[in-house]
Amino acid sequence: MARSAILNVMVQAAMKAGRSLARDFGEVQNLQVSLKGPGDYVSQADRKAEEIIYAELKRARPDYSFLMEETGAVEGTDGQHRWLVDPLDGTTNFLHGIPMFAVSIALERQGQIVAGVIFNPAMDELYTAERGGGAFLNDRRLRVSGRTKLVDSIIGTGVPHLGRGDHGNYLLQLRNIMGEVSGVRRMGAAALDLAYVAAGRFDGFWEDGLNPWDIGAGIIMIREAGGYVTDLNGGQDVVESKAIVAGNEAVQKALVKALKKPI
Ligand code: IPD
Ligand code: CA
Ligand code: CA
Ligand code: CA
Repeated sequence: MARSAILNVMVQAAMKAGRSLARDFGEVQNLQVSLKGPGDYVSQADRKAEEIIYAELKRARPDYSFLMEETGAVEGTDGQHRWLVDPLDGTTNFLHGIPMFAVSIALERQGQIVAGVIFNPAMDELYTAERGGGAFLNDRRLRVSGRTKLVDSIIGTGVPHLGRGDHGNYLLQLRNIMGEVSGVRRMGAAALDLAYVAAGRFDGFWEDGLNPWDIGAGIIMIREAGGYVTDLNGGQDVVESKAIVAGNEAVQKALVKALKKPI
């Protein structure tokens, strides 16, 4: 597997931030933690990892723009390229000592995602993808699952946390899906959920209320692994709509339909 120079930059940044997260994970009880809103935590570890990624990417491509979860937007002079950075996806897991968390970095060129990296340092799993070059877990090429029926499928999802308003609507979606699939999983890190779809571990996934930094890398990971990603209505406006439905072709289409079923 030959990686491009820019993908190597992204891998170096993700791994350096991941090593910092792994150190902080070992001493999680000593970290400063604050609330951004109900059920929405941020810690020193998130901020430190974001600083590391920003410094690495900025050094390699000084002109590119950024959209980062903790710092927000930083405009560059280039006008064509933007980094989407989630320094720690799965903060709540991390703070509870659950090793399901990851660094997620995507690169957009003229509004299209062209490369993505997701790194779970606790499991030493590095997911990489470039447009037209396939998706990989460490050195292994990824392919979405081959199951075609919902009844055989394991579907991942994200449950809205305390501060997110749409709990009633989510329960309707969950009821529709529970009635048709083999099982539902909630891991607590959207970037890893999407990586698991790319790896064929989950047959599909849906969640509403996600941000570009949560899903940028996961979207290209799944597409390069032969999968499909749309918004809740089957449209392509995934990053803007904040809602994502993913899977192999058959499961993804069946999920879009099942989610819309009137109760
Ligand atoms: C969160 C996780 C979670 C999802 C939330 C995200 P964070 O990201 O991806 O699985 O349900 O909507 O905000 O805050 O841990 O980076
Ligand atoms: Ca967060
Ligand atoms: Ca996130
Ligand atoms: Ca985060």
